[in-house]
Amino acid sequence: MENDLQAIVAQTETILESVSSRSDWEQAKASISGPNGALTQIAKNIGSLAKEDRPTFGQALNQAKKRVEALFKTSLQSIEEQADLQALGEKVDPTLPPVPDSNGGTHPLTNVRRKIVSIFGKIGFTVAEATEVETEWFCFDALNTPDDHPARDAQDTLYFPEDSKWENVTRKAKEEHILRTHTSSVQIRTLIKESPPLRIIAPGRCFRRDTVDATHSANFHQTEGLYVDRGVTVHDLKGVLDYFLKELFGDKLETRLRPSFFPFTEPSFEVDLKAPNLGKLSDRWIEIMGCGMVDPEVLKLVDLDPEKWSGFAFGLGIERVAMILHGIDDIRHFYQNDHRFLSQFSNAS
Ligand code: PHE
Repeated sequence: MENDLQAIVAQTETILESVSSRSDWEQAKASISGPNGALTQIAKNIGSLAKEDRPTFGQALNQAKKRVEALFKTSLQSIEEQADLQALGEKVDPTLPPVPDSNGGTHPLTNVRRKIVSIFGKIGFTVAEATEVETEWFCFDALNTPDDHPARDAQDTLYFPEDSKWENVTRKAKEEHILRTHTSSVQIRTLIKESPPLRIIAPGRCFRRDTVDATHSANFHQTEGLYVDRGVTVHDLKGVLDYFLKELFGDKLETRLRPSFFPFTEPSFEVDLKAPNLGKLSDRWIEIMGCGMVDPEVLKLVDLDPEKWSGFAFGLGIERVAMILHGIDDIRHFYQNDHRFLSQFSNAS
């Protein structure tokens, strides 16, 4: 009988070697210590033993039970550990380089901005920057925009509370701080800091109190351009813009200047373009940007002599360029960070 007990312990060891799941384990356990298990069956035989043999057998039985229990316990622990490891997935080696196609790419608006900057870079324009928080003087007054101009209306411009503090945004006097409504304020900041001749391009974010729809966003991007030198003419303006737009949209492009009005340029124009390679927008005139000759009043406001200096300025929306270039029909796509949209214009590798 005691040999039988040893045989059951040995049998348990053997079975457990091939057990690899919780259900295998349950089955094995039932076959040894379940109601019909080998150990349970043998324990039932105790009654058939001679009285004096019973205590020894009882002891041996208890030992065998303990041994078997210990074996099942260890086996269950190792099964659970395996299951945990499996749930954690494959081992990660953090020292390996990333999978190639998970490299990020730049946003389509960043790509367009870089393209614009590089095209102007070829003809000597450098990048100028200023803060997105501005003051009324830099955004309007210095740009010859009268006090009652509708653009200054709180309906269109976002004003900061009077007591807000902006240490890094210098004011002319005690005028209010606002979020810049166009990048034209960078013209003024640059003209105050640097002396002409100068040519700058100023890409950046602008803000207006627009209701968001397919073509409007309260937060958008512009690129300003400014060229101040001696004897600058509309001819120079047209030449530079033709070069720029052809580089951007292709050689087959035509442009035209249409008279317009901006308080800070005189004369002022809207630039239209027409090209055969613009998808749905092909072969028809599309308005692309505003421009003009720097108004002598603006030069005076930054202490430059309009008899000596002249210049041109222009401003265009980066979203607008990206939309025409890629045939995108809703400005909101740019800000939703939907990978399915972004990856179509991605330079990710
Ligand atoms: N600032 C003008 C706008 O936001 C664009 C512009 C810039 C026009 C420079 C003329 C010269 O609409």
